[in-house]
Amino acid sequence: MRPFARRVQNVEKQNVDNMSADADGPRSAGTEPARLTGIAALRWVLRLVRNPLTAVRHCYDEFGPFVLLADVLPFYRHPRAILLDVPLVLIAGAPLHREILEDPATWRPVSLLPGGPKNSAARRMAAGLMRMNGDRHAHYRKMLAAPLRRTSVEEMGPRMSQLAEADIAAWPVGETIELWRCAQRALRSITLGLLFGGEDDESRAIAEMVADLTAQKWASGSLAFPLNLPFTPYRRMLRASAMLEDRILTWASTKRGCDDKHDLAALIVNRPDADGQPANEATIAGHIPSLYAGATEAGQSTLFWTLILLAQHPRVAGQLLRELRERLGDDVPSMQAVQESPLLDAVVKESMRLIPPVPLQMRVAQEDTTLAGHRIAKHSRVVLGTFLTTRMPDRYPEPDRFLPERWSSIDPTPFEYPVFGAGPRICPGYWFGLNAIKVTLATILTRYRIAIEPGTRIDYRIQPTIRPTGPVRAALHRQDGAFAATPIRGAIQDIVRL
Ligand code: HEM
Repeated sequence: MRPFARRVQNVEKQNVDNMSADADGPRSAGTEPARLTGIAALRWVLRLVRNPLTAVRHCYDEFGPFVLLADVLPFYRHPRAILLDVPLVLIAGAPLHREILEDPATWRPVSLLPGGPKNSAARRMAAGLMRMNGDRHAHYRKMLAAPLRRTSVEEMGPRMSQLAEADIAAWPVGETIELWRCAQRALRSITLGLLFGGEDDESRAIAEMVADLTAQKWASGSLAFPLNLPFTPYRRMLRASAMLEDRILTWASTKRGCDDKHDLAALIVNRPDADGQPANEATIAGHIPSLYAGATEAGQSTLFWTLILLAQHPRVAGQLLRELRERLGDDVPSMQAVQESPLLDAVVKESMRLIPPVPLQMRVAQEDTTLAGHRIAKHSRVVLGTFLTTRMPDRYPEPDRFLPERWSSIDPTPFEYPVFGAGPRICPGYWFGLNAIKVTLATILTRYRIAIEPGTRIDYRIQPTIRPTGPVRAALHRQDGAFAATPIRGAIQDIVRL
């Protein structure tokens, strides 16, 4: 087993044993928060809305790993206005990550979906695994973890290679492709094909609608001003949620009685709920959107950014191609072969370190509590700066550079590398996700050379996975090994030294 996978399993186990090791360096106790209020806090909130990654980075540079923004608009209160009805706490670094992620009863994750008023479809669809705690969380986590564990994923290996090959072989050699769409389609076809009972027009359409809805949540308008008035983004989101819920329930009803142990949706529909009752519509509508989003979005993001990084780092791309050819010969990349490719493993880890697919996570305090010994009020929201934690220079020297070779001498804990989260809620899909990315990447690289069009602008947005804001066009060549970087522009250069 690869070291990181082993670490993930250890942390899951150690959590059960109430882990207390100090592998992540000094405990967070004693870390003093910087407290900003009023106009100063508002300034940072606006910067966060405009460009979250550069904002958290500058905030960290100026004030350190623990920043409290309070009383931003003391006269504005709304239970769902995430950014203005603060306190908002920004944290970075393994010790603070650990303190929060190890205690999910106090620090509840927020749903990927927007949520909404009582009895609305939007509210029901935001009630998946990520919003649960206690016995209900344990019940569904156990149910969904079964098809995602190592042995089950390995059973899917041959089919995963076939699905990757079928999609990628149809890419148009000699033409210009839009890289985000291609990465999205390739990963989606594997995920829907293997974890949702097969890809068809309906499952694709649902995946698209779920992606649009999560994007609306993380767009600043709906977050800050959840006003249910005609023509507001919030009203549009409520309407879209109602339509999506209908489609999900109709689609899920076709799975009744089909107990496919690999199909996550069929498990939710057919297995008893946490109280031993048959799953009702609210349970089904609550789980399926966040499972779709969780299973597809982060992998697509990783695949896309890894392709960009390889296109812009010819030396690494050339070494990786050599390694893959040595191991594969003319064979289609299998799951076993990609697991035995150390450089591929390092390339994927380094890409996820530099551009974590979920660069910021959010938690909400369920009660008055403390963080690093300082009082935090109930309902405060904490932004966990994964993007900053995977750039700590003492752990990752030259943190803005893409240096896969660093992985031959480092072995961070999940709290130092919280790309899949860490602690009791660590991503249960990491093994599937990692293997899907590696198989797809190896299939693409052994067939094609991707050259980004010179002068292309690459900007990004966060929803909550990081993806490009506009099309990224690239020429698709048959693989000839003639890798060469091309000049590109855009905000990506603020976060990666190319
Ligand atoms: C590159 C691939 C992936 C990445 C980077 C990723 C990342 C994450 C992250 C950061 C979390 C939050 C953990 C936390 O709150 O501490 C998470 C949770 C989760 N992920 Fe993934 N994920 C990936 C693939 C998948 C796949 C393929 C599935 C399949 C269904 C999946 C299902 C989930 C679920 C159900 C949760 C919620 C766990 C819980 O709350 O107990 N993920 N993932």
